[in-house]
Amino acid sequence: MNSAPLGIFDSGVGGLTVVRAVQELLPAENILYLGDTARLPYGSKSPETIRQFADEDVRFLISKGVKAVVVACNTATAHALPSLLEKYQIPILGVIEPGVEAALASPNVQRIGIIATRGTIGSHAYQHALALRKTGLIIHGQATPLLVPLIEENWLDHPATRQILKTYLDPLVEKGIDTLMLACTHYPLLIPVLREILPQDVRLVDSATTCAEHLKRELTRLDLLDTSAREGSLELHLTDLSEEFEALARQFLKKSPGRIQRAILGG
Ligand code: DGL
Repeated sequence: MNSAPLGIFDSGVGGLTVVRAVQELLPAENILYLGDTARLPYGSKSPETIRQFADEDVRFLISKGVKAVVVACNTATAHALPSLLEKYQIPILGVIEPGVEAALASPNVQRIGIIATRGTIGSHAYQHALALRKTGLIIHGQATPLLVPLIEENWLDHPATRQILKTYLDPLVEKGIDTLMLACTHYPLLIPVLREILPQDVRLVDSATTCAEHLKRELTRLDLLDTSAREGSLELHLTDLSEEFEALARQFLKKSPGRIQRAILGG
């Protein structure tokens, strides 16, 4: 069972930031990744639609024999994780709890900014999870819908991206945030430019690294960790294949994604 693959899914290739973090921390794990590129973006869709899509994504991964599922999409975690946990027996982890834990790990945290898709901000999932764990926090959620297309265009250091980031972030900086949560799987790619734009003392918390750490703890607790010495494999499945997605996958993984297979959901 421990050598069975981990299932990781996202609306597209952004969840590969989580894959990279998992590969770094748990190199022996075999990973089966599903990107629902045919129906991306999830960030602008209704909660009901996201719940249906996430359910189909999980069913696909379970049909492939995965031992656990990581919802590597903030929007899907925000809208669908509770219903997935209710429906399936298999361990399912989202990206919100680990991010919230990491944000609150610093005892001095007081003013938190959250940037994410409209769906994630509108769900208030982060705001509730933070407020439940610590009283007196000042939380500012900022929907940043233009960032995913800019990242997918590889405009990571483009003047337009800097300008848009400044427009989104200046109000948060004016409110004196001490922590900025990057609550979207695409955003870790913006860390270098964010570090330049934001005041030095603003702490960045991204969901990819924190999710991998949380996964390690959970797999250890459930005795599901693959402890073999060999390097694990990575199998990529996308619901829509195009050269663009292949190039993007390389950018997110920072290496060749290998052969990508076309996934057919609902079978
Ligand atoms: N993966 C989504 C998230 O983390 C961003 C892309 C989308 O909107 O589908 O919220």
